[in-house]
Amino acid sequence: MPDRFTDQTVLVTGGAQGLGLAMVHRFAAEGARVHLADVNADAVQEAAGKVAADAPIPPVPHVVDVTDPVAVTGWIDGVAESDGRVDVLVNNAGIIRDNRVEKISVEDWHAVIDVSLTGSFLCIQAAMPHMKSRSYGRIISFSSMSWRGNFGQANYVAAKAGIVGLTRTIALEGARHGITANAIAPGLIQTPMLASMNGPARDLLIGKVPLKHPGEPEDIAAAAAFLGSPEARYITGVVLDVDGGIGIGSSIR
Ligand SMILES: NC(=O)c1ccc[n+]([C@@H]2O[C@H](COP(=O)([O-])OP(=O)(O)OC[C@H]3O[C@@H](n4cnc5c(N)ncnc54)[C@H](O)[C@@H]3O)[C@@H](O)[C@H]2O)c1
Repeated sequence: MPDRFTDQTVLVTGGAQGLGLAMVHRFAAEGARVHLADVNADAVQEAAGKVAADAPIPPVPHVVDVTDPVAVTGWIDGVAESDGRVDVLVNNAGIIRDNRVEKISVEDWHAVIDVSLTGSFLCIQAAMPHMKSRSYGRIISFSSMSWRGNFGQANYVAAKAGIVGLTRTIALEGARHGITANAIAPGLIQTPMLASMNGPARDLLIGKVPLKHPGEPEDIAAAAAFLGSPEARYITGVVLDVDGGIGIGSSIR
């Protein structure tokens, strides 16, 4: 395992489970002081405890709802004060409330946009001054293969396409301050979400992946660790598909 985050402070939202937890593991294994935030108080404590067992520096759990501007600012300013730095921000928290567009309630529209898109905006807004003060920062936000459009996911797609525009704009605004901003668009990843799909539909989708199998959370964590590392210094404003090739589009084979 490389050691690219020694002395660095890394923030991960939605870090209590799934892809977020895999990234907490990865950044911590590479020497970072990781602060994981999640709205699920029990799960975030438990997750931090699990990772602490084999991490050089135990990760620090925080109970934060990323849709709450006061909570987000309190979290990120508090970390900057305790650690004296914020090097990497990973905007991973996200939810789904799938339905066809005419059946999406206004509440479900706002809930999905609020967690994924507004939550990312609030965390970026709170983290940037601390990154600017040290002329260094890496911002990674979670889009999805769905950002190009997906049946039954108008709210999620709007949020995930919004992440692409937000990322490209932050890349421009951050560049003069040594801050890069990139997005990751995961494809089908082996998570509880994928497991919960009905078998035939899941198999059909997996069959469309050129690499012919779903990804693992560790594949996403490896991509995030690269984009979050100092060596990714000349990469900004990109959407990195980590999807086994499914984002390429249709294939006749
Ligand atoms: N799993 C996949 O295959 C996949 C594919 C494409 C994109 N993504 C994206 O990757 C990210 C992680 O996905 P996942 O499958 O690990 O999700 P998950 O549901 O397993 O975990 C999401 C975490 O976010 C937390 N969370 C929800 N609302 C929050 C809030 N308001 N404030 C703070 N934390 C909150 C949850 O408590 C949970 O711990 C999401 O943005 C998702 O849209 C996932």
